[in-house]
Order: sequence, then structure tokens, then C-alpha cells
Amino acid sequence: MSKVFVLDHPLIQHKLTYIRDKNTGTKEFRELVDEVATLMAFEITRNLALQVKTIETPVKETNAKVLAGKKIGLIPILRAGLGMVDGMLNLIPAAKVGHVGLYRDPKTLEPVEYYIKLPSDISERELIVLDPMLATGGSANDAIHSLKKRGAKNIQLMCLVAAPEGVEKIQEEHPDVDIYLGALDEALDDKGYIVPGLGDAGDRLFGTK
Ligand code: PRP
Ligand code: URA
Repeated sequence: MSKVFVLDHPLIQHKLTYIRDKNTGTKEFRELVDEVATLMAFEITRNLALQVKTIETPVKETNAKVLAGKKIGLIPILRAGLGMVDGMLNLIPAAKVGHVGLYRDPKTLEPVEYYIKLPSDISERELIVLDPMLATGGSANDAIHSLKKRGAKNIQLMCLVAAPEGVEKIQEEHPDVDIYLGALDEALDDKGYIVPGLGDAGDRLFGTK
């Protein structure tokens, strides 16, 4: 069973409150999503492997730790996942970025894939799928299936806000994928929006309606 981590760091929770607030405009929303992505990157990379390297400080030779060089791939789900990429790259600048384009059909709530472009070596990378919203879980589920079909073996999912339904869907379909969240909300409404949520993440990020 995949593990679910709700990242309760006070800075993440504080910024998430302003992201949720309907009075937060596009510019500030974008900046806050970017900042929260950086803070979440700090948590999601907590278990990256280290190796020992011998260096000389100005005082003496010593053995010190460096990242073992595991390759990372960031996979934003278009559109809204794009808002989390730069924040992640602040801490993981060497990561490659692949894109999965999906939108949720407003009537059926089923995801429709319209674009995919991935680094050629995804099977060797630790992939982090990025999407602010995990609602029914249909979009993330489809994106993860698409990645696995193309050889991905190691995948984590990072979202700002999730509904219990979405978490259950990923746990059922992808027990190997751990989930990192800013918040686990109460429910979905009858239009498939997360309650209380933050509204339509793509529209708020890009100023569309
Ligand atoms: C939103 C969001 C997720 C999806 C979540 O995208 O960014 O990708 O809905 O819902 P689900 O868990 O029920 O699939 P949307 O379909 O609105 O597309 P957009 O990012 O292009 O606006
Ligand atoms: N997609 C969004 O952008 N928001 C929701 O609450 C659910 C799906």
C-alpha cells in the first residue's frame, strides 16, 4: 500500500491558506504555489541517498556527504502542474522535466490525454508527478499509467490538496506510488471539486475562466 504524507510544516500550511483564499489574485497565487512547491521539494527529497566523498577543508582532509546522484524527473500534469515546476527546480536544478497533458472532461470527469513528452531515460529516474489537485484521482491515475507503460519504475506523486476519493484511487491502482500532500481535504462536491479546496487550480494559476 502506498504511503500518504501530509506535509504539516507551518510554512506550507500558512501559504496554503492564502492559496485557498478566493481573494488571492493570480500573481500572488502563482508566487505562493511556487514557494510551496519549493518547501514540499525539501520534504520529498528527505530520503535521497548520500555517498561519502573525500575533500580537503582549509584545515584538513575529511570524509563528507554528497548526493549519490540518483537521477530525478519532474512530471507536471498540464496545465496546473506547471505552476509547481520552477519551485521544485529551485532545489533540484539538475532534474529533467517531462510533460503529460490531460484535462478532465467537465461532464464525465474522465481524463483526456492530449500530450506527452518525456525524458528518454525515465526508467532510470525517480519520477515526481506534480499536480496541485488530486480530486477523483482520474488524471493522476492516467498519468501514472502512461508513465509506467513507457517504462517508469519509480514514481512519487506530489499535490497541494487532495480529496479522500483521489487518494484511495491512487492507493488502489498504484500501491507502489507514495503520495505527498499539503492537505487532505473533506470530500468532493457534485461537480468533482475538492471541498473546501481552492477552486480550479489551472484557472487561478493562469487567470482563465
Ligand atoms: C485539474 C487538476 C488536475 C485534475 C484533478 O485539471 O489540475 O489535473 O483537474 O482532477 P481529477 O483528480 O478528478 O482528475 P483540469 O482537468 O481542470 O485541467 P487544466 O489543468 O488544464 O485546467
Ligand atoms: N480540479 C481543480 O482544479 N480543482 C478541483 O477542486 C478539482 C479538480
